[in-house]
Amino acid sequence: MAFEPKILGFLCNWCSYAGADLAGVSRIQYPTNIRVIRVMCSGRVDPVFIAEAFIQGIDGVLVLGCHLGDCHYISGNYEAELKMKMLSKLLSVIDFSDRLNLDWVSASEGNRFAQIVGDFTEQIRKLGPSPVKDKKHKKNIIDNLNAIKYTLCDSRLRALVARQRELTTEGNVYGDIIPTEEFEMILNDAIENEFVRHIILEKIKNKGKSVPDIAKEIKIEPHKVLQHIVTLRARGLVDVDQINEEIPTFISIKVD
Ligand code: FES
Repeated sequence: MAFEPKILGFLCNWCSYAGADLAGVSRIQYPTNIRVIRVMCSGRVDPVFIAEAFIQGIDGVLVLGCHLGDCHYISGNYEAELKMKMLSKLLSVIDFSDRLNLDWVSASEGNRFAQIVGDFTEQIRKLGPSPVKDKKHKKNIIDNLNAIKYTLCDSRLRALVARQRELTTEGNVYGDIIPTEEFEMILNDAIENEFVRHIILEKIKNKGKSVPDIAKEIKIEPHKVLQHIVTLRARGLVDVDQINEEIPTFISIKVD
């Protein structure tokens, strides 16, 4: 049977949902693969929702909001853009970023809505079913997606993204404006480190492992793993499980 992608669409109430409605009443044809969740604003879409949708096996996620400058809440779609950019960076690590799309549709753009849904459905059809459905790789993919989800929950990262526009345009309390490139470097560094830490937590969730074993499994140098383990221990998320011939194994004590 031909693959029919399951696509989840988050549509903002004021523009995109009305655009979808217009496509419907105007009888404009578009693929029926999309399941719509209406949100008040694209800025309301927490990237954690999207990571969870991918964990549940959805093949693609479309987030549609008002055109930039037209958001009913002034800046919600700018916030959405920053959040999706962060999510896309994380998804690109596991080759999932093409399964996410953020775009803008106004209430009068029924044709544009149909075009975006059609193009995205075709893109997902070409990519094939979500790898989560592949029994052989499922465990690894789910570990990675869980690591992405928990990275997105990290309060430090969320605070950084939430203040990105303010810090790069208006400045901090001292009036210092951080150049966008510099801010992105700080953000990328934070994203990368948090993601690796959450991957480590996933790998030692049920069984204690030594630093060399973790390093081998996630393919990074042991000294970097050790640095992350030290940080995770300081946060109270990891503890020593056993010590065998002077080599400690570490286990996650994180409560989900
Ligand atoms: S209300 Fe549509 S994007 Fe904010």
